[in-house]
Amino acid sequence: MKVITIVGARPQFIKAAAISRAIREGFRNTIEEIIIHTGQHYDNNMSDVFFNDLGIPAPQYHLGIGSLTHSQQTGRMMEAIEKVLVLKKPDAVIVYGDTNTTLAGALAASKLHIPVVHIEAGLRSFNKNMPEEINRVLTDHVSTLLFSPTDTGIKNLRAEGFREHFGGNHSADHPGIYHSGDIMLDNTLYFAELAEKRSEVLQKLNPEGKPYILATIHRPSNTDKCQHLRSIMNAFNDIAQTGMKIILPLHPRTRSRLNEKHNSEILEKLEKNPYIVLADPVSFLDMILLEKNAEMIVTDSGGVQKEAYFLQKPAIIAREETEWVEIVKTGNAALCGAHQMKILKAFENFAENKPDYYPEYFGDGNAARFICNTIYNSL
Ligand code: UD1
Ligand code: UDP
Repeated sequence: MKVITIVGARPQFIKAAAISRAIREGFRNTIEEIIIHTGQHYDNNMSDVFFNDLGIPAPQYHLGIGSLTHSQQTGRMMEAIEKVLVLKKPDAVIVYGDTNTTLAGALAASKLHIPVVHIEAGLRSFNKNMPEEINRVLTDHVSTLLFSPTDTGIKNLRAEGFREHFGGNHSADHPGIYHSGDIMLDNTLYFAELAEKRSEVLQKLNPEGKPYILATIHRPSNTDKCQHLRSIMNAFNDIAQTGMKIILPLHPRTRSRLNEKHNSEILEKLEKNPYIVLADPVSFLDMILLEKNAEMIVTDSGGVQKEAYFLQKPAIIAREETEWVEIVKTGNAALCGAHQMKILKAFENFAENKPDYYPEYFGDGNAARFICNTIYNSL
């Protein structure tokens, strides 16, 4: 069986590592994987570092699309992906998550009647101001196999008219929806051990061994609205006032916004604060180790809020809603939007009362094997 995996953005390289590993371990002689990299992310620390560290096969096709407007980026990706699909005639195309790369891959494949496998299906924020919400809804509705990491994802799909359809013969008109568990749990478990052995990030970013909070911010709703960016960064300054260090690896979008002239006052305040460490994006092994040793995590990232949960760290989510509703319901994470006071309050609450119960919502760490098995046996 020949499958084409389409990736392009940081979290997709990491997710692809789980499936490539499962293919290597259990389907070496039965599934041939070809990787297309759209080039949506291209800096070394947003792309190559993951291929080098995580054992992902080198992409056979690098489309080099780069940063563009949404429609330009998605359209050019579709055109370039179509050429490869016509040439290679795969039995299935695998796409991950909800980026423009995901949508471009799903549309290009489905219009050629190639079954689309969507990993991380069914998640919804119910907020179509997020480009990701549009991408994930459309991708789900052209897919043949949909793998949801959570029970909530399956419920969302049912609410949109999907029905479980077991027993094979899946097609885009009769898709199969499966509760697979989360491949990012597979990855966190697998790489956490490796990170302990290989990563030197703590010596680099926290040589004095102080307690710290790990923070990442990259959503346009937080970075591109000056008021939101200021409010979140002010919250970091407030937290730092209490003597808590904050390590903030900056996504290139956030770095470039902070470098804009009208934000210079925000950047200056952060740079002057001895308790705040502004860093470049880090490798996944470094990230896992930083998460594992943090007191708490503040983030607007989908992946990072869940890794916080896997590693039993409270998360402050700098968004108004989340697709990972379970972790908020059980009180392990708090939704604070871009509100300075709410973030500070959540920090104080979690500092006083650390949650100690983390139910297993995301499977048992074997999601990738289940997915490969299902793809192989039902397409
Ligand atoms: C994209 C995804 C988002 C995901 C995130 C993961 C979409 C619509 N958004 O957002 O869902 O959470 O990736 O990180 O697909 N840039 C660089 N170097 C790079 C990559 C980006 O400098 O290697 C800068 C460029 O200025 C670019 C900006 O970051 O314009 C945003 O990149 P883009 O891929 O458009 O969106 P992300 O915010 O990364
Ligand atoms: N990540 C990383 N280095 C960083 C920041 C994040 O390796 O400097 C990892 C993180 O551990 C998670 C993934 O990237 O696995 C999440 O990607 P991101 O936050 O860019 O996107 P999202 O998950 O929000 O789509």
